[in-house]
Amino acid sequence: MKFFIDTANLEQIKEAQDLGVLDGVTTNPSLMAKEGISGDQNVIDHYKAICAIVDGDVSAEVISTDFENIIKEGEALAKLDPKIVVKVPMIKDGVKAIKYFSSKGIRTNCTLIFSSGQALLAAKAGATYVSPFLGRLDDIGTDGLQLIEDIRLIFDNYGYATEILAASIRGPLHIINCAKLGADVMTGPLSAILGLLKHPLTDSGLATFLADHKKAAEAKA
Ligand code: E4P
Repeated sequence: MKFFIDTANLEQIKEAQDLGVLDGVTTNPSLMAKEGISGDQNVIDHYKAICAIVDGDVSAEVISTDFENIIKEGEALAKLDPKIVVKVPMIKDGVKAIKYFSSKGIRTNCTLIFSSGQALLAAKAGATYVSPFLGRLDDIGTDGLQLIEDIRLIFDNYGYATEILAASIRGPLHIINCAKLGADVMTGPLSAILGLLKHPLTDSGLATFLADHKKAAEAKA
């Protein structure tokens, strides 16, 4: 399972990269705004800075919603760095753009997926990734994990190469459940990744090991 971090915060991206388990980054216009990044050149510089930190794919989202401008924006983003994956919303012109990008060898991440039908459409258009937002589905009282399971079944039935990028991850349990269901990738905040580290028995076990080692060393002295 690939681990992407869902942030535009350079410090957090560095921390995840230093941990040695990071396979990529996803951003979106809200995450860029959260870091105070605005203006075409600043946005471009920020994507370049992210690409300089990580080894894997970096999703950069278009803000246009009509075919021509999605293409223009996406081609410009793709030229920034070979790591860039153009993130396109699940709308009619977005699907057309994904088909176009796919024919040009430009990789895409179809975002804002909330149904298996949308995922199927994006896969047929040749998306590299589909991003089902499971946390946002859970937030409105529906079963986000069921969507991951349904998309996995559909993609496997037909052998689609499109990768399932489980997005809108809220915590470590989401990651574990997505891994059980066979999501290819998960993207979540640093806290969700670091949450996988934690177990009280690990902490108490380590404290006992260290205390016993100290006692033995003191007894010998
Ligand atoms: C996906 O790539 C999105 O950036 C993201 O996962 C959305 O998550 P949120 O629901 O936490 O905003």
